[in-house]
Amino acid sequence: MSDEMVGVLPDEKIIALDQLIQNNNGPGAAIIILQKVQSMFGCVTPAMISRITEYTGIPESELYGIATFYSQFRLQPPGKYLIKACCGTACHLGGAEKVARAIEEYTGAAEGGTSEDGLFSLETVACLGCCSMAPVMMVNETVYGGVTPKSIQKIVRQIKSREKAEKSSIGVLEGDDK
Ligand code: FES
Repeated sequence: MSDEMVGVLPDEKIIALDQLIQNNNGPGAAIIILQKVQSMFGCVTPAMISRITEYTGIPESELYGIATFYSQFRLQPPGKYLIKACCGTACHLGGAEKVARAIEEYTGAAEGGTSEDGLFSLETVACLGCCSMAPVMMVNETVYGGVTPKSIQKIVRQIKSREKAEKSSIGVLEGDDK
């Protein structure tokens, strides 16, 4: 779990956040600040909520109420790979439910959340605009059509092994410096 999830913000984020709050601390500030925080940092973590409360006096309960009510807010930092699983009509008929469950199973990311390893985030969306390929999912900018639990397992495996290979090559490079 990242520090931000347990209430610790790095200095550079505190500075940027304080500036943002200062510039938007007027009437109706709660939702405006949360929207700007979401767009600047890609999420509204518990550490950020504590800081907003500290600075503005808006109760944490009010901020959490807003952040959990509207789907535009994300309480965890997004994963490196954002998976959008389509649950529109064509995809629903093509087995979207099974697709979403398979993504959860193989990535470890629950719907609306991020996996423990920080690699994957999962979102469901209404339509990805390529219904003829249903069921469809997107991983960052790449669209995958006609997905099945088996093909999802394969895609996730490929991403994980690519990540592993990248990590070990970085380790080798760092080792070379010594
Ligand atoms: S319904 Fe899934 S892409 Fe349109």
